[in-house]
Amino acid sequence: MKTFQHKVAAITGAASGIGQALALELAQQQCDLALSDVDEAGLAATAQQARALGVEVTSSKVNVAEREAVHAWAAQVVQDHGKVNLIFNNAGVALGGTVEDTDYEDYEWILGINLWGVVYGTKAFLPLIKASGEEGHVINVSSVFGLFSQPTQSGYNMSKFAVRGFTESLRQELDLAGGKVSCTCVHPGGIKTNIARNARMNRSVENLTGSASAEKMRSQFEALFMTTAQQAARVILAGVKADKRRVLIGPDARVLDLLQRSLPVSYQRLVAGTFKLAGR
Ligand SMILES: NC(=O)c1ccc[n+]([C@@H]2O[C@H](COP(=O)([O-])OP(=O)(O)OC[C@H]3O[C@@H](n4cnc5c(N)ncnc54)[C@H](O)[C@@H]3O)[C@@H](O)[C@H]2O)c1
Repeated sequence: MKTFQHKVAAITGAASGIGQALALELAQQQCDLALSDVDEAGLAATAQQARALGVEVTSSKVNVAEREAVHAWAAQVVQDHGKVNLIFNNAGVALGGTVEDTDYEDYEWILGINLWGVVYGTKAFLPLIKASGEEGHVINVSSVFGLFSQPTQSGYNMSKFAVRGFTESLRQELDLAGGKVSCTCVHPGGIKTNIARNARMNRSVENLTGSASAEKMRSQFEALFMTTAQQAARVILAGVKADKRRVLIGPDARVLDLLQRSLPVSYQRLVAGTFKLAGR
């Protein structure tokens, strides 16, 4: 897709961070928007800023973990805008805790949003994007933690690895089908957003790593986040225009990707060692 002008993009998790930045960057490029999130106040703020840039904006409260709600929203988007060309399955949450101390309920919570939200968004929008008869694109947000694992992040890791597997499989199907619709899997490194602040984290993280507190660990991680949400949005949109299969965001993501490819198994020792040091 060479231009977003006069296209319609649907974005989940548009109230904050990368989703909000994507909305504003797309609005600047004259792309109409269908925004959703569970945070109604944040969503209204994004919608207002985007409208000020002169595009049509609709917004809906949608929990991406609810299949019927996502399908109903997709149908509403076509009713409101007449078509849809892009879906950004971006909404996501984080979870810290060891495997032994993470409840099933917490695993179900993160998979419901980070994995099932992406599956529902893809399956609900893909037929509608194809039906537009125009160029279309599915953008699924994984993470650098969809490329390699780290301790205390089993829920996040499994959700983001699964998004990568799902999206890479879809991309090959779209290649084989040879139509006007494509897809991209996005792997951000640390982006300055609200994700760490809104993460669920339990005391097992402190117990395992020896960190003084989960809060200390959270702020140490946040201090390492290098890229702004606006920069991330620009990299994602350039990747869609270039029809990339995989988009890495930030120097940290590129280094960690290289580490994983150079030491595909033994990277685990290095990561575990880094966690020990960070806890001190
Ligand atoms: N920030 C990072 O360092 C980073 C790194 C790699 C990947 N990511 C991924 O980027 C995506 C965007 O995250 P962000 O960093 O902008 O975080 P963020 O917390 O700023 O924004 C996430 C948005 O998702 C929304 N959301 C949460 N649960 C939802 C649900 N059930 N239904 C609908 N919306 C929901 C939140 O309300 C919020 O507005 C996520 O998938 C995240 O995993 C972020």
